[in-house]
Amino acid sequence: MNIVILAAGQGKRMRSALPKVLHPIAGKPMLAHAIASAEAIPGQHQSIVVIGHGGDAVKDYLEKNNIQAKTVFQAEQKGTGHAVLQASDLLDESQNTLILYGDVPLIRTSTLETLANLAGQGALGLLTQKMSNPTGYGRIVRNLDGNVAAIVEEKDASAEIKLINEINTGLMAVPTKHLKRWLLALKSNNAQGEYYLTDIIEMAVSEGVPIYTANPQAEWETIGVNSRAQLASLERTWQLELASQLLESGVSLADPARIDIRGQLSCASDVVIDVGCVFEGEVTLGAGVSVGPYCVIRNAVIEAGAVIHAYTHIDQAKVGSRSVIGPYARLRPGTELAAEVHIGNFVEVKNSQIASQSKANHLAYIGDATIGSKVNVGAGTITCNYDGVNKHRTIIEDEAFIGSDTQLVAPVTVGKGATLGAGTTLTKDAPAGQLTVTRAKQVSLNWQRPTKKPK
Ligand code: UD1
Ligand code: MG
Repeated sequence: MNIVILAAGQGKRMRSALPKVLHPIAGKPMLAHAIASAEAIPGQHQSIVVIGHGGDAVKDYLEKNNIQAKTVFQAEQKGTGHAVLQASDLLDESQNTLILYGDVPLIRTSTLETLANLAGQGALGLLTQKMSNPTGYGRIVRNLDGNVAAIVEEKDASAEIKLINEINTGLMAVPTKHLKRWLLALKSNNAQGEYYLTDIIEMAVSEGVPIYTANPQAEWETIGVNSRAQLASLERTWQLELASQLLESGVSLADPARIDIRGQLSCASDVVIDVGCVFEGEVTLGAGVSVGPYCVIRNAVIEAGAVIHAYTHIDQAKVGSRSVIGPYARLRPGTELAAEVHIGNFVEVKNSQIASQSKANHLAYIGDATIGSKVNVGAGTITCNYDGVNKHRTIIEDEAFIGSDTQLVAPVTVGKGATLGAGTTLTKDAPAGQLTVTRAKQVSLNWQRPTKKPK
């Protein structure tokens, strides 16, 4: 199939340096949503994006994100028909052409598939919708048999036509041979002086090409965005939809209106998510995982039974089953925690593996470390991993005990079962099984505090 996505419009009402179609819904540009939805229809497709305002930025985005779409430039926005005409030479005549808008991001693949199938046997497929308030949209005019006869734009509509509540969503699937011919025949003798794509409907009717209509399953699928307010409102609509999908799949949400998913969140059974959490990229939550309020979790795997307490940030990390993280913990990229690990408040972990049942419960930095199992990392412990130029690793073997306020100056190894006394600055390896401590000896002296001299 040929897929043409119209994205040349300025989006003046966004008041933004960013082209409108690059504004995100759920963390992904609207244009990318539309393309992905169409590309997911089974079969081979070529996507062509009609760019104009901010076209270079759009092109750049497509290239950088490896989205296989060609672009054609529409220098002047002379209407939707003129926009599709710019792509005409690239359209494969043996395939139908599906036309979408880059600022209508939430259209579902299933709806597009229905639309594409309507155009299957040389007919024109049109996506329409009944609306309680159709103001501003093109109206679907039907003849006495109920067949589509024309689309009339609001600005060209008589009072009688304005009463029609079936509207043109703008999305259609058209046999390409006809389309190319019809585009060349469009005229701009209308209220807006534009080449209306919608005028091909009357051409189809006069040539006896059948026109079939379909409706989207959900009303929000065809909502377009023209302003930041509409963008914000559509974002909420979409997030509520994602939340209700989660609820339906067996996830408990403290408040379906207070969760944000910007990517793919996969949950096993009986996951509980409190308010204000943001999930980005690909996140997997195992069975029975509990996520406390206001956590930010990005590209992470949290295994079954783990508990993530409030205000925890997790980025590119793996949390083992039944581990307990937070509140106020930060797991940075490369963190891999095995089962039943405890990471407490104000503990930061980066590029480190921690084996099962180890604990770092308070105020610590663990960077570039390999920590065995049943290790206790005391409060205030810091792995000094950076010498100002290079990063070095710290190795702490099973069952070691790291006293509070210890600095481990990497590269350094703490042997199995070793104990480090509180306040140790470890610069050489600590042998297994022994107590290592670097500390000035404690002394107690008889001593008189000075007193204030009389004036
Ligand atoms: C269009 C339809 C109208 C429909 C409505 C649905 C026409 C003539 N009218 O009207 O029947 O009810 O959408 O939202 O088709 N664009 C370009 N180049 C242009 C003009 C537009 O790329 O020269 C793009 C815009 O960026 C936008 C889309 O096409 O993504 C629709 O354009 P817009 O101006 O919003 O069309 P409407 O007047 O709303
Ligand atoms: Mg519009």
